[in-house]
Order: sequence, then C-alpha cells, then structure tokens
Amino acid sequence: MKNEPTTSLFELVTGLSEAVDLVSPVLVNHHKMVAYFSLCLGSELGLSIENTSQTVLAGALHDIGALSISERLEALDFEVEHAHQHAETAYHLLKGFPPFSKIAEFIRFHHVWWNWGEGRQFRGQEVPLESHILHLADRISVLINKEHQVLSQVDNIKKHIEGQSQRMFNPDIVGAFNSLAGKEFFWLDAVSNSISSILSNRIKIKTIQLDLDAIINLADIFSQIIDFRCQFTANHSSGVAVCAERLAQLAAFSEHDCKMMRVAGYLHDLGKLAVPVDILNKPSGLSDEEFQIIKSHTYYTYRILEKICGFEKINSWASFHHECLDGGGYPFHLGEPDLSMGSRIMAAADVFTAIMEDRPYRAGMDEGSALRVLQKMVDNNKLDAGVVTLLKCNFEEINRYRLSAQEVSGNRYHRIVGQSEHPDY
Ligand SMILES: [Fe+2]
Ligand SMILES: [Fe+2]
Ligand SMILES: [Fe+2]
Repeated sequence: MKNEPTTSLFELVTGLSEAVDLVSPVLVNHHKMVAYFSLCLGSELGLSIENTSQTVLAGALHDIGALSISERLEALDFEVEHAHQHAETAYHLLKGFPPFSKIAEFIRFHHVWWNWGEGRQFRGQEVPLESHILHLADRISVLINKEHQVLSQVDNIKKHIEGQSQRMFNPDIVGAFNSLAGKEFFWLDAVSNSISSILSNRIKIKTIQLDLDAIINLADIFSQIIDFRCQFTANHSSGVAVCAERLAQLAAFSEHDCKMMRVAGYLHDLGKLAVPVDILNKPSGLSDEEFQIIKSHTYYTYRILEKICGFEKINSWASFHHECLDGGGYPFHLGEPDLSMGSRIMAAADVFTAIMEDRPYRAGMDEGSALRVLQKMVDNNKLDAGVVTLLKCNFEEINRYRLSAQEVSGNRYHRIVGQSEHPDY
C-alpha cells in the first residue's frame, strides 16, 4: 500500500526483545548487551556492514527460544549444558521470515564451541563465523557482574576469555576482543542505561524499514514467542488477531487499519513475557500475588509498544484489552470516552477467543453460552454493545476464522516445541 508509515526493523526488534528480558531482573538488557558486543566484534573483525548488522539483530534475539525462565537463567552459566535446545527453537521460530533467514542460522549455533576448529561444523552443518561471534558476545555479557563497577572486572574477564581461546572460542574473535577490551568505552557502553541509544546511533541498518505486511509476519513470530511459553494458551494470540481483524473489517475500518489490528492482536499479550512460565501454566488456584503479576501484563505491553515509532494506534488497540467501558478494567482504568472503537474491538475479540478456545483442562463454550457471556458483559457496561452485535451477527464466520488460525498455530506449536525437545539437545 502506498504512503503507509513503515517501521524500522532495528527499532522493532530491539523493542520487542526488551520484552523478553523483563522476566527477571538479572536479564535486563541482556539481549541489547549481546547485540552491542556483536556490533563491536563484527566491526573490529572487518565484517561487512550487512553481516555486522545481521549479527547485531541476531544478538538482539538470540535467546528468544528459551521459553521458560529456568532456561533463560541456565543460559547465564558460563559453560551451559543443554544450550542447543533454545538455540534450535529460536531457529525454527525465525527461519520462516525471509529477512531473518541468515539471522536464524547465526542463532542456531550460538552455543557451539570452537573446539580447536572442529566447531566450524556442528551436526553436519556449516557453522557461520557470526555464530562464533555471538557465542563470545554472549559469554562476555554473562561474565559481567552488574553489582560491581565494570572496569574493575576487565582483567578477570579477559583472563577468563583468553583461557578459553581455542577451546570455547575462535582465537581470531578472541584477538578482536582483546583489542577492544583495553578501551574503557567498550565496557562503559555495555553497562550504560543508554545502551539503546548507543546501539541505535552506531548501527547502520536502522534505515531498513518494514512495510505493514512484513510487520504482520514479524508480529506473528512474536505471538509464538509469547504463546508458546504456556501450553494452555499456545495458540491464543493468533485467534485474537484474526477475530479482531475480521471485526475491524465488519466495522468498516480501512484495509490499512485492519492490518494494524491484526498486528495489535498478535502483540496484545506481549507483556506476558514478563510473567514467569510457572504462573502462566497454572490452570487454576492462583494466589493473589500471582494474579497481580499476571494482571501487570497489559501494562508491559503498553510500555514496550510505546517506544516503537509508528505503533501508537497499534499500542492503544493492543494494550487496552483488559480495560472496560465502566472504568473497572486495568491497568489504566480508562472509561468510555478514552476507549476507541479499535480498543473495544480488541477487548471483545480477546474475551470471545478465550471463551471459545479449548484448553487442555476445559472445552471451549458452545455458541449459546458464549453469546450469553458476551451479552452479560455488555449489560454490565464492560464490552461495547455494537461490537458484540457484530460478533453475534457474524458468529459462525468469525468462529471459522478463529478455528483455522488456531489450528495452524497449534500445529506450529507441536512442530517447533516438539522438534526442539529432541533428546540430543
Ligand atoms: Fe543462548
Ligand atoms: Fe544469552
Ligand atoms: Fe491479556
């Protein structure tokens, strides 16, 4: 479509990957730090701008396949056991998105040891140099103790890395690290609170723009990262996305806005990345504290998406899905005057999808019961009457869209999560 605003690939990736690091305070900025070290190492080694840029994006996404917090925290040990599982999961999540085909390869092998040159290959596959750069960038990052002044740690970190040259790391990359490690800025940038703007100022690819169709594909990948952490809701966002998009079409939104609605649907639960998996996977019996933690997810969706330029509308549609017309929702307690038609559509699509989908511990509702629940929410001034009428009048069609989208993502869940659970990983 002509004249549509586009979004920077770099900004979108770093924004979304920030969400993945919210799950634990020790992980804050981990992805950005690895992206930063990858950038420095790639430039020092004289990689092309294109390849350095791809390595930086790979750094910003490298651990997205670690779906549980224990996997994320285990990856912080210097010599990680079972590390290839999350790398393989990330590979399968990303490889279908054409701009990420190289990035997926780099990430797939980011825990392969150099092993005196044997690490040029892994399980019969060529391991790109960029994977070895990522490996070292990642390990430098885990060696930094955020509690202490970074410059006082440099000698120890250098000793550690040099001691692993040839065994864990490619010696050429260790050489590049050694030249960088003598410069204070290298370390101070990495732990700076302004790491986002430092990265953004230095990176050359920020000019790569994504059009709306590519953003839909990327948001779809992120919906899997969000949903695949929880077996009960492994295909929830895909259902919400198509229902919301169809409702937007029925409400005569422009073609462009209908696509934006699809993106908002994929990302509406983005903030769930900040919720530990064991809480998400509890079918019932949540303590009050656990319930409050879950409730915070739309707040995080909002705070992450507000940083992405051009996502203002998407943000308000995605993040207000637990707000209610009577002002009794959360986290902003918005009321009728503040809730746009798009936000009202998302709220209804979310409830509709949630009550209709089968969960392992209960079957989805039938049409009659679902309509009664939705009508009650209209009567109690929670959901918009007009949107629910649209849903009622097109129930069968919208439900068909939901079912086929959820079937596709359910199959992907079994393929991707099942695949990476290979006993060798
Ligand atoms: Fe990793
Ligand atoms: Fe990592
Ligand atoms: Fe939600």
